[in-house]
Amino acid sequence: MKAAVWHGKRDVRVDDVPDPVVQQPDDAIVRITSSGLCGSDLHLYEVLGPFMTEGDILGHEPMGIVEEVGPQVSNLAVGDRVVMPFQISCGDCFMCKGGLQTQCETTQVRDQGMGAALYGYTKLYGAVPGAQAEYLRVPHAGYNPIKVPEGPADDRFLYLSDVLPTAWQAVEYAATPSGGTLVVLGLGPIGDMACRIALHRGLRVIGVDRVTERLARVSARGAETIDLRDLDEDLGDVVRDRTDGRGADAVIDAVGMEAHGSPVGSVAHTMVGLLPDAVAEPLMKSGGVDRLGALYSAIDVVRRGGTISLSGVYGGAADPMPLLKLFDKQVQLRMGQANVRRWVDDILPLLDDEDVLGVDSFATHRLPLTDAARAYDIFQHKEDGACKIVFTP
Ligand SMILES: NC(=O)c1ccc[n+]([C@@H]2O[C@H](COP(=O)([O-])OP(=O)(O)OC[C@H]3O[C@@H](n4cnc5c(N)ncnc54)[C@H](O)[C@@H]3O)[C@@H](O)[C@H]2O)c1
Ligand SMILES: [Zn+2]
Ligand SMILES: [Zn+2]
Repeated sequence: MKAAVWHGKRDVRVDDVPDPVVQQPDDAIVRITSSGLCGSDLHLYEVLGPFMTEGDILGHEPMGIVEEVGPQVSNLAVGDRVVMPFQISCGDCFMCKGGLQTQCETTQVRDQGMGAALYGYTKLYGAVPGAQAEYLRVPHAGYNPIKVPEGPADDRFLYLSDVLPTAWQAVEYAATPSGGTLVVLGLGPIGDMACRIALHRGLRVIGVDRVTERLARVSARGAETIDLRDLDEDLGDVVRDRTDGRGADAVIDAVGMEAHGSPVGSVAHTMVGLLPDAVAEPLMKSGGVDRLGALYSAIDVVRRGGTISLSGVYGGAADPMPLLKLFDKQVQLRMGQANVRRWVDDILPLLDDEDVLGVDSFATHRLPLTDAARAYDIFQHKEDGACKIVFTP
């Protein structure tokens, strides 16, 4: 089959690789009809390269048609239309039963000290072959695949694999009080969808980014926006100006470690200024603080007693956190990979013909898988209006 394969930093190619086969009695093989490209893939493309191995198949946002099932899979049949959550979980352990599927005790990658295995996401998460491919092996197939109805195009359901539950969990964890203000940092697919969900719930939403098309998408749906390129003061001051001097009740960080420097740089540097020199100096030298730019601005933007909901992925094992500021502001910090199965039943009713979240027109690009190299490139550089790219294998 054809698959998008990682060959090195900023080097993704479409290769011919062996078709996946049923290995365990509860596996299924799914023929992929749509597969999303995610901001998380961009981390692998560059920053998390050291955790990748040449030949790894990328991708974790798939849907398709069941092609084959192992002998132990009774509730899934060949021909079923399914969406796969980006994480692999068993459905049966303490964590899964508690709605924490990303911590599944059956699939936890214990030798790396990490949570549940993910498709196409480094050796830290089990080095499981990914889903930007023509076929996918689906483990624990009695639990993982979400069966969806025939009829609407794939776009209606595809985002159940990641974007929708991630944005939903971000909004849930933000716990913005009714009548309150939510700031969403980063308007890629995750931040954009978080804005849509929060607006649907009647919240006041301020979206922040530095990409014209992305700001326009959320503005068209009723969010206020702040363009980082326009700022000549700190973002926190601008937000406080708009919120009775207090700051936002809640902030979603939908940026993660791909944060861009300058406009938030001064905040980051102030935060680092609070650290002892022995910690601060090597950080300043390695540019490590710039990676935390969005998180530091979230800490600045949130009001005292407010909540930061972190869905952006950070990769540092020992990143410096301004605990004095967090503690003094009495900030609640909630985070994690989205527990997909936990939210699916809440989201499905919104995926009807009314399409209140605009999923049918959410993708900016639908490309053949053979265009993967170009797709990664334009998505990373935010060219050609690329916000959500979906592959048709
Ligand atoms: N928690 C989860 O389960 C989960 C799932 C999917 C994605 N993610 C993570 O969510 C994050 C967003 O994903 P995405 O697909 O939307 O990615 P993306 O890279 O397309 O979007 C990030 C956006 O942040 C903007 N940005 C950069 N620096 C900024 C700053 N300092 N302040 C405000 N905005 C800034 C960029 O211009 C970009 O539009 C990534 O870190 C991704 O890994 C987490
Ligand atoms: Zn994703
Ligand atoms: Zn489990």
